[in-house]
Amino acid sequence: MTSVLPISKEQMSKNSSSDTSTPPSPVAVPRVCLVTGGTGAIGTVICQRLAKAGHTVATTYRNEEKAKAWQEEMAKQGYVIHIFKCDVGNFDETQKCVKAIVAQLGPITILINNAGITRDTSLRKMSVDQWRDVMSSNLDSVFNVTRPALDYMLESSFGRIINISSINGQKGQFGQSNYAAAKAGMHGFTKALAQEVAKKNITVNTISPGYIETEMIMAVPENIRQGIMSQIPVGRFGTPEDVAHVVCFLINPDSSFITGANIATNGGHFMD
Ligand code: CAA
Repeated sequence: MTSVLPISKEQMSKNSSSDTSTPPSPVAVPRVCLVTGGTGAIGTVICQRLAKAGHTVATTYRNEEKAKAWQEEMAKQGYVIHIFKCDVGNFDETQKCVKAIVAQLGPITILINNAGITRDTSLRKMSVDQWRDVMSSNLDSVFNVTRPALDYMLESSFGRIINISSINGQKGQFGQSNYAAAKAGMHGFTKALAQEVAKKNITVNTISPGYIETEMIMAVPENIRQGIMSQIPVGRFGTPEDVAHVVCFLINPDSSFITGANIATNGGHFMD
């Protein structure tokens, strides 16, 4: 299966003419996309952008009441998003969930591993549950979902896997030894899998957002948050749209040469 619709000779010559007002983007094929943890701030905008582009979008949730209210709100705004109850930190549950999504919507060929939590505290105070919860939701989940979804991408000879990591997986952060370890682990996963599937028209990339306006950031004490803001060269926190924009860029068929990359989206807060 090719990843783009055929383009006529006339269209190609139009695209290569001196008229540069319209970029020569091929028409994307509608895909089935799975965005884990889509009901959060960043996930919501990713789901909306994918749906707006004509893709079929599914997301996983843990909190039924919150997810149903969210789905209704999406519908009011004109977005059809399919929701599936699943703890992506649980391997068996995730295998069943992926099968259910594929049975209902078709093969998943775009996967955004976005689900994540924080349990911030210094290591000396960190409980084993705070460690395990973060590793399970943020890193085990990437294995649990990608493992079954990959089969459908291989069958379709097309795939886009995007792992939403964090600036703190790159630079570390006081109080986040669990989160930073999981987020750094995600990028190791990206680089290894990218090599395994590169010849199969499947790309695997990481996005490392900086501090984005979300509930997670608002949970950080005000004085610490102000200190963080002062370290961001562009002078603002990021928005979920800043992250969704990079997702759209990476899933575009034109981005097929980008794989194993880690795209920092942090306003210059950390430059690797
Ligand atoms: N740097 C240096 N020292 C710090 C510090 C910091 N950032 N934060 C606290 N300390 C110091 C304290 O002043 C205290 O010192 P004393 O013992 O001399 O008084 C000592 O460290 C211990 O402090 P606490 O007892 O308050 O430590 P704690 O275990 O309760 O944890 C914390 C504090 C909750 C981690 C707090 O520092 C915090 O909220 N930090 C921000 C963490 C953060 O940035 N999280 C990011 C959330 S957003 C996100 O994760 C999304 C993303 O991907 C970017």
